[in-house]
Amino acid sequence: MPRLMRIGAGASLELANILTQLGLSRPLIVTDSHLVELGKLKKVMDSLDSSKFSPRLYSDVVLDPTIASIEKCLAFLRQGNHDCVVGFGGGSSMDTAKAVAVLAVHGGAMSSYKVPHVQDVPGLPIIAIPTTAGTGSETTRFTIISDEVTLEKMLCVGLGFLPTASLVDYEQSFTMPKLLTAATGLDALCHALEGYVSKRSHPFSQNIAVQSMRAIAPNLRRAYADPSDVYARESVMLGASLAGIAFSNSSVALIHGMARPIGAFFHVAHGLSIAMLMPTVIAFSAPADIRLYANAARAMGVAGEDESNESAVNNLVNEYIAFNKDLEVPTPKAYGIDPARWESLLGTMAEQALASGSPANNPRAATAEEIVQLYKQAWAGGEDTQQLYNKAGA
Ligand SMILES: [Fe+2]
Repeated sequence: MPRLMRIGAGASLELANILTQLGLSRPLIVTDSHLVELGKLKKVMDSLDSSKFSPRLYSDVVLDPTIASIEKCLAFLRQGNHDCVVGFGGGSSMDTAKAVAVLAVHGGAMSSYKVPHVQDVPGLPIIAIPTTAGTGSETTRFTIISDEVTLEKMLCVGLGFLPTASLVDYEQSFTMPKLLTAATGLDALCHALEGYVSKRSHPFSQNIAVQSMRAIAPNLRRAYADPSDVYARESVMLGASLAGIAFSNSSVALIHGMARPIGAFFHVAHGLSIAMLMPTVIAFSAPADIRLYANAARAMGVAGEDESNESAVNNLVNEYIAFNKDLEVPTPKAYGIDPARWESLLGTMAEQALASGSPANNPRAATAEEIVQLYKQAWAGGEDTQQLYNKAGA
């Protein structure tokens, strides 16, 4: 977990205090140009008194950061004299800040940091300020960087990527567009679920995951319907950070392993690719540990304490189908992915999913052939998913 956390309205304006507490004064602020245009950074920058701090702003973060984008940010950092990196924005800004903070000290090629490498030795201190409620990057020891040549989304892990401090300010999330609320919220709910059912989970991560599901599940539709719903925004933002702690202390599993190649090959936003797969992969996985998945359904409020495990898991699958309908998440087919390219890449996608290591933590092991079948099942979503679950014998 981050050494310091500030959570709640106005927490992002605590940056100056946090830097002082950590003995830091020369931050590189890493963000994207859209957030600068929205004026979201102004108050935070204004709070850094020029007599005490000498910040520089880098605002060229790209969506789904690539190796080239990291090298560009690193070159900018080296033009200055920085003692820490602040990631301000969604997952892309925070993940860029993390990668640059490690490379600034340890150097080498970004690709040399992907799993199975573990980067526990820290680089520059990282301070994370999320403006979306979903990625959880503010509380995780992970960063995801795309290799633009192989089109692989590289998972990089280790304590070196864990922020020293996180400022979780739900007021920063009020201006999120609806689609972003849906995609990031469902991603967070997946972090909580996978952090809960993962083979590497344990009572600490499971308790945090349960609290995360309780915070997100009943409030996500409210945040989606009314972006200014304060209670819903606060709950989903808190839930997303809790989910980050849960899966950073256990792991994600098959859904994340399978989602990364969809994002890399078809440029589908991370949260959307996650949401596209969730009903199908939950239906496949739940029969391996029906009690765990039933407890997740109870934490999400879609099953009663006295309801049978079988009924609870049935409700869980249906709830994820309903989420995708209510939050207008398209299937891969409806998204407009070329069916021929989808078919031709399924084998490669399955290989990359397995190579990421995440599927090994799934309660139900999946072979490459089964992963290909799951991609096929998820293609059009809906009815097929419920049939798959029934066939699994649950
Ligand atoms: Fe995720």
